[in-house]
Amino acid sequence: VMQKAAYHENVIDHYENPRNVGSLNKKEVNVGTGLVGAPACGDVMRLQIKVDDDGKIIDAKFKTFGCGSAIASSSLATEWIKGKSMDDAGKIKNTEIAKELSLPPVKLHCSMLAEDAIKAAIKDVAKKRGAKKEE
Ligand code: FES
Ligand code: FES
Repeated sequence: VMQKAAYHENVIDHYENPRNVGSLNKKEVNVGTGLVGAPACGDVMRLQIKVDDDGKIIDAKFKTFGCGSAIASSSLATEWIKGKSMDDAGKIKNTEIAKELSLPPVKLHCSMLAEDAIKAAIKDVAKKRGAKKEE
């Protein structure tokens, strides 16, 4: 209990009730997958997005094999990007995530994982959709 009190309540909520845990179907052309790792600690995050034909993100899921801050960061990230265009989602900075969750400096790299995973998922879906258009 003492340890938990050190965390901002947003962290606790995203930690205890992470949103959007799960997977989307990688085979769908409108689904992008970002798989990233943190060299500092070896934690891994997979974040997936589903976009509509206009490039708006209509769904997002994640699986994070890592620390509580990384799980909270990915949970928050999936909430933030839903409903956004890929352009806007790609502009989300890890510092914004860290601020919202009140992450201490030593946990900044955990939020970096979320920023990297969003960018990687966007890149993946853009590539898949681009390839399909050329068919
Ligand atoms: Fe243990 Fe990230 S590897 S907290
Ligand atoms: Fe590495 Fe959190 S300690 S992602």
